Amino acid sequence: MTKLGVNIDHIATIRQARQAIEPDPVAAAILAELAGADGITVHLRGDRRHIQDSDVRRLRETVTTRLNLEMAANEEMVRLACALRPDQATLVPEKPDEITTEGGLDAIASRDMIATAIKEMEKVQIQVSLFIDPDQAQIDAAAKLGASMIELNTRAFSEAAFRSPDLAGEVFTEELYNVAKAAEYGNQKGMKVLAGHGLTYRNVRIIADIPEIEELNIGHSIIARSSLVGLERAVREMLRAMRH
Ligand code: PXP
Repeated sequence: MTKLGVNIDHIATIRQARQAIEPDPVAAAILAELAGADGITVHLRGDRRHIQDSDVRRLRETVTTRLNLEMAANEEMVRLACALRPDQATLVPEKPDEITTEGGLDAIASRDMIATAIKEMEKVQIQVSLFIDPDQAQIDAAAKLGASMIELNTRAFSEAAFRSPDLAGEVFTEELYNVAKAAEYGNQKGMKVLAGHGLTYRNVRIIADIPEIEELNIGHSIIARSSLVGLERAVREMLRAMRH
């Protein structure tokens, strides 16, 4: 069965919007695990716009499934990861002004930096995953770097799904094919294959059905839905607090 890693960055985004203490990503992680999540993912960004170092430290003490730290492959982050000891680190490209991760890593151009990051983190038993586009040359580069895991970027697939009312059509089929083919190729190269980015309740099944993909990382869609399915209860609880 395909595993689910839940990305809880948006919980920290809400907290940081008020520089408050709630909602706490640690509480969110516990609830996600109780609901059956196979892992918890957070992205510690250079600008610390949502998740903070202290969140990762507290999550490390709390998460009982797998803690996956998304991070840039730079010296500062590698040092932090080696100290914080997540189970897994996912290397992602990071641009200061981007709204979210925009594309996969360039495992060819950034080869040396990635190689150093993998070497340092594997020394302390952190498994390293590379977030790459579903592209054969990138998969070859990841395999050459000795990565044991890759996460295929499903952004192009998700955008094609958004524009396809019946999850069909030429562009949709091509993007789905790219992910499926990349998953098969990555698997043949001996790497564990994960996928994520932009997956939703509507488009997830077709990706979850790709046999070589072992795990999906999903954030926005789950946290967005939780804010709506939880709203009625939250309003009722506030009314109760006002009146009793
Ligand atoms: N995987 C990676 C590497 C990401 O950077 C993100 C976004 O933080 C996700 C998965 C999850 O994407 P989404 O929030 O669109 O589900």
